[in-house]
Amino acid sequence: MTVRIDESLEGIDWAQAKADLAADDFDNGRSPGALRASFDRSQHVAIARDGDRVVGMARLLSDGVCNGYLLDVWTMSAYRRQGIGTAMVRQLMTRAPGQHIGLQTDDAEAFYTSLGYRHQPVFMSAIVGEWLVNEANQACPAQGLARPRRGEGSGRQ
Ligand SMILES: CC(C)(COP(=O)(O)OP(=O)(O)OC[C@H]1O[C@@H](n2cnc3c(N)ncnc32)[C@H](O)[C@@H]1OP(=O)(O)O)[C@@H](O)C(=O)NCCC(=O)NCCS
Repeated sequence: MTVRIDESLEGIDWAQAKADLAADDFDNGRSPGALRASFDRSQHVAIARDGDRVVGMARLLSDGVCNGYLLDVWTMSAYRRQGIGTAMVRQLMTRAPGQHIGLQTDDAEAFYTSLGYRHQPVFMSAIVGEWLVNEANQACPAQGLARPRRGEGSGRQ
């Protein structure tokens, strides 16, 4: 199998992506439209594809200056331990030179350690109201959002 990694959200079937995440027990409850919006609104994305099939995804929020946050890093289970996750994260990191990148993980510590991430003493978080009780999760369409083109405000390069 030949897997390529790109920075485009073109052609992604978000309902299929959600189903694939769920099959890997990595669905956090977003609707397909909200999943799409999460990626569409991120400054940088990395999508691994085997033909037309999405087999890995990752995204990076970044202010473009000093801070970034890595999210939704996933490789389809049948494709793991082949370097796909590493390639996606490394590709995203090239988009944030000089920046401090944070992340939270429950059980992928060895993966992030292999990429140079180290513990910081305290990570704190809070949910504003109830998890996913917001307009985005109810209203975002799975397909057809207008996506800014390069240089038109998305911040993606
Ligand atoms: C974590 C995840 C993205 C890794 O993807 P991947 O494509 O298998 O990663 P890679 O093949 O690039 O792994 C690189 C290295 O990370 C480490 N690693 C990856 N998965 C590991 C595991 N399950 N246990 C221990 N080490 C692991 C290893 O050092 C590995 O190198 P090696 O295969 O030469 O030993 C994938 O297992 C996944 O999608 N897990 C479920 C979702 C998840 O937990 N995402 C992270 C949430 S923040």
